[in-house]
Amino acid sequence: MTPERIPAIKLLLLPKDTNALGTIFGGVILSNIDLASAVEARKVAAHRYVTKAMHEVEFHEPVYLGDIVSFYTETVRVGRTSITVRVSVEAERWGAGITSPAGTGHGEKVKVTEAEVVLVAVNDKGRPVPIRPEPMQV
Ligand SMILES: CC(C)(COP(=O)(O)OP(=O)(O)OC[C@H]1O[C@@H](n2cnc3c(N)ncnc32)[C@H](O)[C@@H]1OP(=O)(O)O)[C@@H](O)C(=O)NCCC(=O)NCCS
Repeated sequence: MTPERIPAIKLLLLPKDTNALGTIFGGVILSNIDLASAVEARKVAAHRYVTKAMHEVEFHEPVYLGDIVSFYTETVRVGRTSITVRVSVEAERWGAGITSPAGTGHGEKVKVTEAEVVLVAVNDKGRPVPIRPEPMQV
């Protein structure tokens, strides 16, 4: 049996999250991709992280008001000072589509977007620090 995937973040989107079309504003999704990647990075090593880059964010499908959205994460690379996290975003359709009335979704799962986020571990001066302890130089 395949183990259940546990998202870093799962949330219900509300009217405050919509754009002028009534679908979900892309910035809300980006903000949560950023947060989900930081949750994943903290599992790898406890540091203060800043976001250095987000690669290839493409929105495949809209997210509707009332959808439940899950942000799944996977660490794809641990470098010297950076961690690359892939974030995959899935919507459970419980909300209204553009052509359908509210509440007509039945929980269908749709991949809406994915991205790779590079986070850099930084010290209290904001400069990069090693993710893992490094051997002493002699
Ligand atoms: C993050 C920051 C401290 C990095 O400083 P820097 O001088 O670029 O650091 P470095 O060149 O040593 O790179 C640090 C790591 O990032 C990686 N990196 C740098 N640019 C990258 C890019 N465009 N894509 C992917 N990785 C990148 C480097 O490969 C290195 O990783 P490694 O040590 O694992 O090999 C600095 O750019 C910064 O403060 N940026 C602003 C961060 C921020 O405020 N984010 C929130 C946005 S509002």
